[in-house]
Amino acid sequence: MTTPQNAAPNPTRLPEGKMPELRVMPAPADANVYGDVFGGWIMAQVDIAGSLPATRRANGRVATIAVNSFLFKQPVFVGDLLSFYADIVRVGNTSITVNVEVYAERNRLQADVVKVTEAQLTYVATGPDRKPRQVPPIESLIHRD
Ligand SMILES: CC(C)(COP(=O)(O)OP(=O)(O)OC[C@H]1O[C@@H](n2cnc3c(N)ncnc32)[C@H](O)[C@@H]1OP(=O)(O)O)[C@@H](O)C(=O)NCCC(=O)NCCS
Repeated sequence: MTTPQNAAPNPTRLPEGKMPELRVMPAPADANVYGDVFGGWIMAQVDIAGSLPATRRANGRVATIAVNSFLFKQPVFVGDLLSFYADIVRVGNTSITVNVEVYAERNRLQADVVKVTEAQLTYVATGPDRKPRQVPPIESLIHRD
């Protein structure tokens, strides 16, 4: 069997040296009658995972302004253990853009790992008035990514 030259091989392990922002297992209520997990449920988890580094970088509340891209590359099934990895890829004046990658451990005893989803979202740092505020300089932060 041939593999396209520029196609990344499916990983057989979770990314090394990185901590997932979120790990969660979908339940039957999160899936259709065939056991496939709803895309909207995955999007909600991706939004939560992406907001975590954005909130740390913003040193306060953020609001999701855009889902720039979203790819459901492989299906997710009830019982998959999902790991969400989130990396800040751009910091603007008030905005923070985050890439999120999701891996499923389908059969945890056999280390069967599949990359199922990748997405990019943009968050805006907001104040108590819910209006945009400037992202603080990184030197001023206690928690750093
Ligand atoms: C987030 C919110 C406070 C921003 O206010 P706004 O007046 O629309 O913001 P601005 O037009 O000044 O843009 C703010 C930043 O977002 C960026 N932005 C705007 N539209 C964007 C888009 N389509 N994609 C990516 N970034 C975008 C701007 O470039 C700007 O970034 P910068 O300051 O780093 O240059 C407001 O849009 C809002 O409350 N939205 C609803 C948020 C929400 O409820 N999200 C949950 C999902 S329903």
